[in-house]
Amino acid sequence: MLTIPDNLQISSFAQYKEWYQASVNAPESFWSAIAEQFEWKKKWNNVLSYDFKKPEVKWFEGGKLNITENCLDRYLKTQPNKTAIIWEPNNPDEETRHITYRQLYVKVSHFANVLKNNGIQKGDKVCLYMPMIPELAIAVLACARIGAVHSVVFAGFSSSALSSRINDAHCKMLITANEVYRGEKKVELKTICDEALENTPSIETVIVYRRTVEPTPMKIGRDKFWFDELQKVGKDCEAEIMDAEDELFILYTSGSTGQPKGMVHTCAGYMVGTTFSFQNVFQMQSDDIYWCTADIGWITGHSYIVYGPLAAGATTVMFEGVPSYPDYGRFWEICEKLKITHFYTAPTAIRALAKQPLSFVEKYDLSSLKVLGTVGEPINEEAWHWYNDYVGHGNCPIVDTWWQTETGAIMISPLAGITPTRPTFATQPLPGVQLALMDEKGKEIEKKPEKAEGRLAVKFPWPSMARTVYGNHERYKKVYFSQFEGKYFTGDGAYRDASGNYRITGRVDDVIIVSGHNLGTAPIENAINEHASVAESAVIGFPHEIKGNALCAYVTLHKDIQVSDQLIKEIRSLIGTTIGPIAKPDKVIFTPSLPKTRSGKIMRRILRKIASGQEDQLGDISTLLNPEAVEKIILAYKKHL
Ligand code: WT7
Repeated sequence: MLTIPDNLQISSFAQYKEWYQASVNAPESFWSAIAEQFEWKKKWNNVLSYDFKKPEVKWFEGGKLNITENCLDRYLKTQPNKTAIIWEPNNPDEETRHITYRQLYVKVSHFANVLKNNGIQKGDKVCLYMPMIPELAIAVLACARIGAVHSVVFAGFSSSALSSRINDAHCKMLITANEVYRGEKKVELKTICDEALENTPSIETVIVYRRTVEPTPMKIGRDKFWFDELQKVGKDCEAEIMDAEDELFILYTSGSTGQPKGMVHTCAGYMVGTTFSFQNVFQMQSDDIYWCTADIGWITGHSYIVYGPLAAGATTVMFEGVPSYPDYGRFWEICEKLKITHFYTAPTAIRALAKQPLSFVEKYDLSSLKVLGTVGEPINEEAWHWYNDYVGHGNCPIVDTWWQTETGAIMISPLAGITPTRPTFATQPLPGVQLALMDEKGKEIEKKPEKAEGRLAVKFPWPSMARTVYGNHERYKKVYFSQFEGKYFTGDGAYRDASGNYRITGRVDDVIIVSGHNLGTAPIENAINEHASVAESAVIGFPHEIKGNALCAYVTLHKDIQVSDQLIKEIRSLIGTTIGPIAKPDKVIFTPSLPKTRSGKIMRRILRKIASGQEDQLGDISTLLNPEAVEKIILAYKKHL
C-alpha cells in the first residue's frame, strides 16, 4: 500500500516509479487512495467501470461531492486569509487585486445566488463569454456550486462562433462583460454578444459585468447588470450535492470538421485528475505563487488557473493583458512584481518573446522563479534553451506538459525537480496514464529498451478524461475510440527513447506523403527552426504533378534579418542533413507572421489553400488571432512565384 501525503506529492524519482507501477498494477486502489484525500459528501461504491467499445467510462460511481467545497469550503477552515487569486490588470497603472480564500468563498456563494434567482438550476447550461477578470473564475465556480454546467467561450471568438456554441449546448444564460481591454485595444464584448443573441433562442437572461464605465446598451427584460443582481440576493449558498459522474462543464475544441466538439467533463474524476497532476507536475510549496498565462477560455485555464490550483489551496495569478503591452517586458515585469515562483506558458509566447531584444527580459529580477512550464505544442530546441537560459537562468526545471482538452489534465510531463528533463521531451507519463505507441498497422510497439516512433494512444481510462462529445456520442466514439480497438487515440505522433521518455512529434494528421515517403511536418519545422535566423516555420503539402505532394515552408525570421539566397540554401541544407533530401521543400516563403488560432496553433489549412492557388477559398478567418497576417502571406507567396 502507498502512503499518500495530504498534498498528494511524489517526492523522488524512485517514488514516482513506485507510484507509477502501483497505478498500473492496481489502478482502482491507486486512484481510490488519491481520492480519499478530497472532501466527499458520500464515498463512492465503485472506483471504476468502463467499456471502451461503447465507449463509457465512470469513475467513483455512487460518490457525492461538490468540487467548490474542495476548492473553497475546506480552505475556509485551514487558510481563510491566504490569497487564492491575484489579478493583474491589462493596464499596469490599474491596481492589482488580491482575493483571499474567504473572500472568494463569499463572492462565489453570493453570485451563485444570482444564478438561482434568475432561474438557473442544476443541469442547466450557462455560457460564459468574459475577459480575464476574477469575475470569470467566480462565475465558473458559482455554476459548479449550484450544479449548473458552464460552457466558457473564449472572449476572442466572433459572434457567430459564440452563437453556434450557445445553440449547440442550449444555454439558458449568458454571462459577459460590457467591454474588455486587450493591450492598447478596447473590445465591445456586449455588442458582439448582442449580435450573437439574434440567433440564440435558448438564452433567457444575460448578466453583464461592467468592466468599464462606458454606457452599455441593455435589452430590457433580458439583460441585467452583475452588480444590480448581487443586491437582490443573500451571500450564503449551500453547495449542490453532485453525483461523481454529473456533468461539470462543456468546453469546445476544434476538430477535423468545421463543427467544434463540445467536450464534456464530469465532477469527481476531473477534480481528482487536475489536482493530482497540478500538485505533482509543479511540486507546489505552500507559499509559492503560481502563474499560468493561458486564458480561462481554454482547457489550460480551466484545469490550471481555476480548478487544479484552487483545489490544491494554491495562490493562482490571473492576467488580463497580453505579453506585448505596454512592451515586451510585461511578463517579466509581472514575475518580478508578484514574485512568481511557478510560470507556465506556451511555446508560441516564448518564441515571440525570444524574438525581441534581450534587454526586455534582462531588465527584471527573475530570481523568485523556481519552476517553468510549457504547454500546447511541441517546444523546439532553440526556444527551450532561450527559456532555460534567459528566464530560468539555468536554475529552473522546465516541465513540458503534454495533454489535450479531451484529457482534462496533464498526461505526460516531468515532475519538477524530480524527473530528469531533456529538451523537447515531455518525458514520462504521470501515474495512472498507460500509454501505447502504435505502428502503421495498428499494432502496439512493445516496450523494449529501444527507440520507437508511432501514434500515441492511451490504453486504460484515467479519471479526468472527457466522457463524451456533447449531443454527439457517435462522434466521440468515431474520433477517439475507432482508430485502435480498445484504446483512446490522441491524434498525435510520438517518439520514445530508450529510457521511456516521450517526445510529441505533432499531429499525425499533418503527415504529408511526398513521392511515396511519409513526412511529418513537425520534424521538418524543427529542422528549419534550428537555423539561428529563423523564428518560426510551418510546412504544408501542396499538389505536385510528379511527386503527388510537394512541400512548402513558410518561414518567419528574427528581427532585422534579411532574406537572401544564401539563407534559403542554408535552410534547405539543414533539412537535408537532419531528415534527408526528400524533406527539402520546393518552396520557401518568407512571411512576417503565420496565421494562428487563439490558442497559438498555426492554421495550416490556410497555408495549404494559399500554396494550392486557392486563396479565394480560405473560408472563415475571423476566428484567427491575426487575420491581417493572411493578406501579407498571400502577397509573399505571389511574389515568390
Ligand atoms: C494538442 C491538444 C492541453 C492544453 C492546450 C492545448 C498539442 C499540447 C503539448 C506538448 C507537444 C502538445 C498536441 C495535443 N500539445 N501540449 N507539451 N508538446 N504538443 O489543448 O487545444 O486540446 O490541443 O496540443 O498536439 O494533441 P488542445
